[in-house]
Amino acid sequence: MKYEYLLDWYDSNKRTLPWRNTKDPYMIWLSEIMLQQTQVSVVIPYYNKWIKTFPTIEKVAKADLDNLLKLWEGLGYYSRCRNFHKASQYVVTNYKGIIPRDYDLFIALPGVGEYIASAVMSIAYDQSYPAIDGNLKRVISRYLGLRKITKRNLFRIKKKLNTMIQINPGDINQALMDIGSSICKSTIAKCSICPLNITCKAASSLDATQYPEKKKKKSIPTKHFISGYISYDNYILITKRPSTGLLAGLWELPMVEYRNDSKLIDVLNDYTTKSLGCGVNIINKIGVVKHAYSHYKICITLFKCEPKNINVKNSQWIHLNEIDDFTFSKANHKLFNSIGIIND
Ligand code: ADE
Ligand code: SF4
Repeated sequence: MKYEYLLDWYDSNKRTLPWRNTKDPYMIWLSEIMLQQTQVSVVIPYYNKWIKTFPTIEKVAKADLDNLLKLWEGLGYYSRCRNFHKASQYVVTNYKGIIPRDYDLFIALPGVGEYIASAVMSIAYDQSYPAIDGNLKRVISRYLGLRKITKRNLFRIKKKLNTMIQINPGDINQALMDIGSSICKSTIAKCSICPLNITCKAASSLDATQYPEKKKKKSIPTKHFISGYISYDNYILITKRPSTGLLAGLWELPMVEYRNDSKLIDVLNDYTTKSLGCGVNIINKIGVVKHAYSHYKICITLFKCEPKNINVKNSQWIHLNEIDDFTFSKANHKLFNSIGIIND
């Protein structure tokens, strides 16, 4: 077959990754969810810990969402975790715990889109679906010499991939993922060591990295927050985010968005009085923490405060040594670091 050389290349060059020595669709599904928005090196320890704690999909389905979120803490995009929990319950209830082999049934599960469905169907079940992520789009658009990722060109990319994945689609997909992450990278193309270099269109151009054209980065807005490290003795006040929306179900130090023209100190006092029922005296400013999400950045100014009273609502006092029992966002861990509470 025409693309067997890609399989040969993969056999001798593939990265050894923990989810590559199994055909278990549950493990492959979990790995692909973690990998969809996160780098391989970051995913590995999370994946290993998760599989150790939850070796089967039944265990995930039975678990408490808070425990799952704790294992996901720091990976970001927490809706992946909530969706996986829901999907696992659906699979256990409706498919006796067997992950569907049918693409249409599988893609109907929460959190499963075209990419995840194709990756799992090809890697776990040897079905010919191209797992098109950003890496594959870049590699194949270079291979075909396509400048723009238009709808038509995406169709061409898909068509090309369909011809490449006729045998061992899971390995071909993963070979192309590996080429994308180690050889044909966004700003460097190491064509001389690439198994595709003989027939690749971009390889014979002056600068392969010009394919495809990079989209201009949209400048993303910054939202400003004020937050209180409200403590007495060794207790601190934390709040739980709503069960839907961004970072749903995670805990954080009380914080509230403010507009540039507002007076910081009044904002925090108003918020803690009205929403948490305690009100605060501000003692001093601790620092400023910045964090970037995909569509905006946040800038949080943190103040050390004392509560005016300790009868609170919509929030909870926890002892400092209980912090590890709750799941906090990355931005919130940055706040803990700025205070000097390091817990990782
Ligand atoms: N990125 C997404 N899926 C991957 C996989 N199966 N192997 C390596 N990198 C990946
Ligand atoms: Fe990318 Fe060069 Fe390989 Fe073509 S030959 S896929 S441009 S690294």
